[in-house]
Amino acid sequence: MSNDGVNKGRRTLLIAVTAGMGAGAAVGVAVPFVKSWNPSEKAKAAGAPAKADVSKIEVGQMVVVEWRGKPVYLVKRSEETIGNLEGLAERLKDPSNGNKGQQPEYADNLYRSRKAELLVLEGVCTHLGCAPKYIPEVKPEPFDANWKGGFFCPCHGSRFDLAGRVFSGSPAAANLVVPPYGYLDDNTIIIGEDGASA
Ligand code: FES
Repeated sequence: MSNDGVNKGRRTLLIAVTAGMGAGAAVGVAVPFVKSWNPSEKAKAAGAPAKADVSKIEVGQMVVVEWRGKPVYLVKRSEETIGNLEGLAERLKDPSNGNKGQQPEYADNLYRSRKAELLVLEGVCTHLGCAPKYIPEVKPEPFDANWKGGFFCPCHGSRFDLAGRVFSGSPAAANLVVPPYGYLDDNTIIIGEDGASA
């Protein structure tokens, strides 16, 4: 009886709605798809500098910012940490930044940074590209009885100090890379641009 009529009616309605949704969805999907294939947008995103507010980073803390698909480590160093850097020279492969490709000119100093209190490093091991772990405590570690804090790569055991300088005996040959960066103001840095600030 009328059941058939109702069912037919529902089927018709459902088909119409589904078709309508399908058409809408196709239009909706098309826009981001086109955008994501726009080479200039992709190129911009890949090379864009990254800004970071460094005012909230506690002394001893590390935060990670992504830049060009890589992790960039930001570490607020203590006075003690900064003081320890000097005494490590004879245990390091390249204590005086002899390999010039590893940091910009303004970071070619003992701290490997623009300001001693803030370390900015690419978190990519110079051996085969793993992410070194931040181990800031000054205490004997299974991998180093005289550990003064730094980075330990879990892949093959490379060790780096809190300026990203590689220890002798590590498979990594070079210090961690300091990316180009600058201060926009006291609280904000920009990674990927040298900027004009000291
Ligand atoms: S990738 Fe870090 S030690 Fe090999």
